[in-house]
Amino acid sequence: MGKVYFMSEDLYTRLGGQAAVNAAVEIFYRKVIRDPRVKLFFEGTDINQQIEKQKGFLTFAFGGVTHYAGKDLRSAHARLVQRGLGSAHFDIVVQHLRATLEELNIEKSLINEVLKIVEHTRHEVLDR
Ligand code: HEM
Repeated sequence: MGKVYFMSEDLYTRLGGQAAVNAAVEIFYRKVIRDPRVKLFFEGTDINQQIEKQKGFLTFAFGGVTHYAGKDLRSAHARLVQRGLGSAHFDIVVQHLRATLEELNIEKSLINEVLKIVEHTRHEVLDR
């Protein structure tokens, strides 16, 4: 069983459920992998597999399932931290997520809830 990162009652439903999560992840990843400031970290990663993993993770983050069964975030990103992944890169990825949710016309208050959840993962992603 995966580690439990956070719980968020009905945020998932309010965001529009699985369809919204799928749309968000796909738009988001295309933004991230096109960005010259962060795309180097994705070299060698199968992007389709990556999108599937991210969907599962965000579904959990938004409160749609009871647990996330993937690799924990610290070990998932350890190799990237060795290659220089830092807070500035994390900020860029968060900005892309915000822009994605805005593009999908998701309410500001819901966007802020999602970003707060994601912010809680910063220390683990960056191995701090
Ligand atoms: C913002 C918070 C973040 C979350 C919630 C997140 C989530 C995830 C998840 C769930 C995985 C898959 C883990 C598994 O294998 O099961 C993953 C892998 C990965 N993440 Fe993130 N991530 C975040 C930030 C970042 C940032 C800032 C970067 C780089 C700029 C990044 C780059 C990657 C890459 C390249 C992989 C694949 C690693 C590999 O194939 O070995 N992530 N992430």
